[in-house]
Amino acid sequence: MKKLVFLTGAGISAESGITTFRDSGGLWEQYRVEDVASIQGYYRDPELVINFYNERRRQLKEVQPNDAHRLVAALEKYYDCCVVTQNVDNLHERAGSTHIIHLHGELTKATSTSNPNDPRQIVTLKDDQDIQMGEKAADGSQLRPFIVWFGEAVPMIEPAAEEVSKADIVVVIGTSLNVYPAAGLLSYAQQDAEIYLIDPSPNNVPGYLPVHIIAKKATEGMKELYQQLTRS
Ligand code: APR
Repeated sequence: MKKLVFLTGAGISAESGITTFRDSGGLWEQYRVEDVASIQGYYRDPELVINFYNERRRQLKEVQPNDAHRLVAALEKYYDCCVVTQNVDNLHERAGSTHIIHLHGELTKATSTSNPNDPRQIVTLKDDQDIQMGEKAADGSQLRPFIVWFGEAVPMIEPAAEEVSKADIVVVIGTSLNVYPAAGLLSYAQQDAEIYLIDPSPNNVPGYLPVHIIAKKATEGMKELYQQLTRS
């Protein structure tokens, strides 16, 4: 089976009703990134940050995977797939994808403030379960969202780069390619890999790569690409 690696961002969840970050009306127009998505912001006001992610976790109950998530999962029948996502929602899982790398963490998990990447500290929360101030992780420090914030290392970037370096096909869906190291993953693609990018307003597409751009929304673009990739 050929290897197919997806690199997805907030745009793939837009049609499920989850706002992106940098489109007009996006999350970073409503909140300051440095206040709610940086390690400095967390230490400055942990309660503000914990509640920001409690709100985003609660939203998971109101949204469903869309056709783009479902078509990504359906391609597992034809390819050895891996989904590398910057998204912290669980829509790829709920659509049926079975090999997912979350570069920026997961809303449905919580961890320790002192040792956030120690696997023994990571717990799974129910969709409607809030993290409370004063709630402790196994090591006795404040329980915090299992999210990779600006200013923190991205522990899953190496396994993700490994996947991209072995891909026959790379499909980028719904990311502005603004945030590193995630945005740099395309540079690990093999010379002869086929690269597709689905985004209604593509930007930051690396000029040195032969990228097939499908300037459409994720659901429409994935319908088109699914036909192309499964044509016998
Ligand atoms: N279908 C496909 N793409 C879409 C759609 C859609 N329906 N709607 C918007 N897009 C595209 C936008 O054109 C844009 O290129 O999705 C992209 C969203 O970009 P961002 O909002 O920057 O989201 P993302 O690239 O995932 O952000 C990366 O930044 O703030 C951090 O940690 C956060 O993981 C996030 C990272």
